[in-house]
Amino acid sequence: MSSLHWNSIAMCVAILRLCHLVLGLPYSPTSRSDIITRLPGQPQVVFRQYSGYVTVDDKNQRALFYYFVEAETDPVSKPLVLWLNGGPGCSSLGVGAFSENGPFRPKGEAVVRNEFSWNREANMLYLEAPVGVGFSYSADASFYSGVNDEITGKDNLVFLQNWFLKFPEYRNRSLFLLGESYAGHYVPQLAELMLQFNKKDKLFNLKGIALGNPVLEFATDFNSRAEFFWSHGLISDSTYRMFTSVCNYSRYVSEYYRGTVSPICSRVMSQVSTETSRFVDKYDVTLDVCISSVFSQTKNLNPQQVTETIDVCVEDETLNYLNRKDVQLALHARLVGVRRWSACSNVLDYELLDLETPTITVVGKLVRAEIPVLVYSGDQDSVIPLTGTRTLIHQLAKELGLKTTVPYGVWFERQQVGGWTQVYGNILSFATIRGASHEAPFSQPQRSLVLFKSFLEGRPLPKAF
Ligand SMILES: *[C@@H]1O[C@H](CO)[C@@H](O)[C@H](O)[C@H]1NC(C)=O
Ligand SMILES: *[C@@H]1O[C@H](CO)[C@@H](O)[C@H](O)[C@H]1NC(C)=O
Repeated sequence: MSSLHWNSIAMCVAILRLCHLVLGLPYSPTSRSDIITRLPGQPQVVFRQYSGYVTVDDKNQRALFYYFVEAETDPVSKPLVLWLNGGPGCSSLGVGAFSENGPFRPKGEAVVRNEFSWNREANMLYLEAPVGVGFSYSADASFYSGVNDEITGKDNLVFLQNWFLKFPEYRNRSLFLLGESYAGHYVPQLAELMLQFNKKDKLFNLKGIALGNPVLEFATDFNSRAEFFWSHGLISDSTYRMFTSVCNYSRYVSEYYRGTVSPICSRVMSQVSTETSRFVDKYDVTLDVCISSVFSQTKNLNPQQVTETIDVCVEDETLNYLNRKDVQLALHARLVGVRRWSACSNVLDYELLDLETPTITVVGKLVRAEIPVLVYSGDQDSVIPLTGTRTLIHQLAKELGLKTTVPYGVWFERQQVGGWTQVYGNILSFATIRGASHEAPFSQPQRSLVLFKSFLEGRPLPKAF
């Protein structure tokens, strides 16, 4: 072989995309280089894990980081699930995979198994999106200002197209999109783009979407907070009246994002904050807070914390773990333009007014296109409370002319009530998860896994035990 040829091969390794130009070979990046041999401190497992980058633009300036965990048993027969966390700007790797439904949770120097990992039922793909989140980056940092729903949707679509080049065996696999919180924007918007794309080239075998405590219609979602606070004893009767009639939460947020908070809204919000206090987790009003997060200076203020069965400090553990050089090496991750990995981006300047664009209408389009939709609520979350979500889904069902096929009632996980559910037209489902937070699989892993399995199988939740 000529030395030119060897140089070409070396270059190909460095710049895979040039291979087809230099050697006349088809561009076919393999998944093999992305395989994770073992995460530091990881117990032995039988399933394969991969992680790495997929570029989403022609100039190779923007790259999204993914973590892919194959199903524990028989991955070939199981669907592909894309999981997205919200924010906007929070990491599906750190929050979704390592605190919620992934196979491992960081604990000290090691990671321990999550018995209720969703890769028991599916091949789980966690995507850090948009660029600027976690290990995902844009080489040109000026791109971070003005990232919005439209850019996020397009990049996520290109990501999956290119990811299928690495994992061609998953191309036509049953695909489900799931996400939480602000992913109430990302997931329906991405699903809509997929359906449009499929008209030209049937690439995405989309079988359903599920959304946990999602933002679907900003005013309804945010204004259900006042009643949730009041009925859980977090605010007084008089503050409740002010928070509903003088300045409601959607008005406050609208003013806040426009930099024009009125004195009256400022007064009301200050009263609300004083009464609720910062020692209650707004994402689960019954869960204790991680004291080290609230008061990083006085870690030992509340030593009972360590005996909690739910590790409320898992976010701190994740932060430490993902910032270790050996962990980043094992994950094939790089820090580009940031000094540390963080759970929610410090560099991204997301177009926050996109929050006010309703996506419940997009959900309606998906249902009309016969894509099954499940919307579920951890019922202890005050950030996107179940009550607003339930109202929105009920209204949507009415607009679509869908009749109730499973009447409102309890569902079971083992012998206990897992929550409540209602199904419309056998295609649009609402469910609560009892005792669950905004991040439902974190605080109610067993119940969440039952819900996930039923959803994938297209079955209603268990109505008896
Ligand atoms: C994709 O899968 C569907 C079934 O889900 C099947 O009908 C179709 O032929 C498959 N297409 C390709 C290109 O393999
Ligand atoms: C919230 O406040 C806005 C502006 O004052 C008002 O238009 C809207 O009707 C209020 N919503 C609720 C649910 O009170």
